[in-house]
Amino acid sequence: MTITTPLDVERIKRDFAILSRDLDGKRLVFLDSAASSQKPESVLAAMDDMYRRHYANVHRGVYRIAEEATAAFEGARAKVARFVGAKSSAEIVFVRNATEAINLVAYSWARANLHAGDAIVLTHMEHHANVVPWQMLAAERDIEIRWIPLTPDYMLDLTKLDETLEGARLLSVSAMSNVLGTINPVRQMVDAAHAHDALALIDACQFVPHVRTDVTEWDADFVAFSAHKMCGPSGIGALWARRELLEAMPPFLGGGEMIRDVRLDGFTTNDVPWKFEAGTPPIVDAVGFGAAVDYLQCLGMDAVRDHEMRLTRYALDALTESFPDTLRIYGPRDVSVRGGAVSFLFDGIHAHDISQVLDEHGVCVRAGHHCAKPLMRQLGVPATSRASFYVYNDEADVDALVAALAMAEQFFAH
Ligand code: ALA
Repeated sequence: MTITTPLDVERIKRDFAILSRDLDGKRLVFLDSAASSQKPESVLAAMDDMYRRHYANVHRGVYRIAEEATAAFEGARAKVARFVGAKSSAEIVFVRNATEAINLVAYSWARANLHAGDAIVLTHMEHHANVVPWQMLAAERDIEIRWIPLTPDYMLDLTKLDETLEGARLLSVSAMSNVLGTINPVRQMVDAAHAHDALALIDACQFVPHVRTDVTEWDADFVAFSAHKMCGPSGIGALWARRELLEAMPPFLGGGEMIRDVRLDGFTTNDVPWKFEAGTPPIVDAVGFGAAVDYLQCLGMDAVRDHEMRLTRYALDALTESFPDTLRIYGPRDVSVRGGAVSFLFDGIHAHDISQVLDEHGVCVRAGHHCAKPLMRQLGVPATSRASFYVYNDEADVDALVAALAMAEQFFAH
């Protein structure tokens, strides 16, 4: 039996110095973690210590601090690997972010394997990061892109999944929508892709920070995620892929570190994962990534998920009860199939105007198309406001959002 200790949010808030900021007398209420999360003291301290005491380039020097830096860098990779259930650290390639992870697959695996007439399957709820790299490839190679649509309750409509996958080479899908919050049935979709001899890429950028992830249970081929949405620094993320797949793929960027040998007439590549890590890597950011994993593991990912389900339910209820006729929520109501990104719109008020008024009350939410313009077009709106929750948010933050929204609605009524 697993025992989940509920999050002590009051204590957690104290780990994030920024949350004690006062904005012209207003408490900072940060509800934009789906865009990027805040960083706890332990992550900042790990990075600071790395720069102050252990900094040198990795995999090169034979002196003591270079060895310490290499051990810390590779130790961070091992932590990230364990966090997502990878079989070995060799399956974790450090990249800049999930966007770069998807581009790596598009440039390396896809350009080596896909040809004119092949098909890729995406969904209407993808982030631009999981649309544009495929559109670039499709234009270059005359590849067909097929789309899985939405149901009226903001889930994926999988009734024609098999038909859509017929003859496709790749399914690339988000595990959790950054706009709707929807959690997709990853294993079912991966199994369907494999049944059609297609590979499956999972954009897990919104999922890994919030829900215990096991890439082996998913049985996917590629999984992309970023550190900055899970209490880590910006500028680093990871691509997980099966080792044999990484070994068979051509390199992405060329340069130092990714080679075993270079001669006048060519080069041979390094082992994975370094084969995909050209140049000096984000050494200190990797250490911060590892510290973020430690932080989340200390909280317990089951507790993180429980907390977010409770808070999301509280927020959905509060928004519906407070604005029954004027506010529309875009996303599922059942918190068991959604995360804590809650998109909404008021009748006749632009999302940007709402966010600006909320900002005057210290409440940070994102407004806009959320890098998901195809989805916005399907929803028939130019933009939404989006509040998103993380481990440091509580009911008082939701209450502050609702109070600020009431003032915004009143303001625009005049
Ligand atoms: N993808 C991030 C978001 O949804 C930036 O806000």
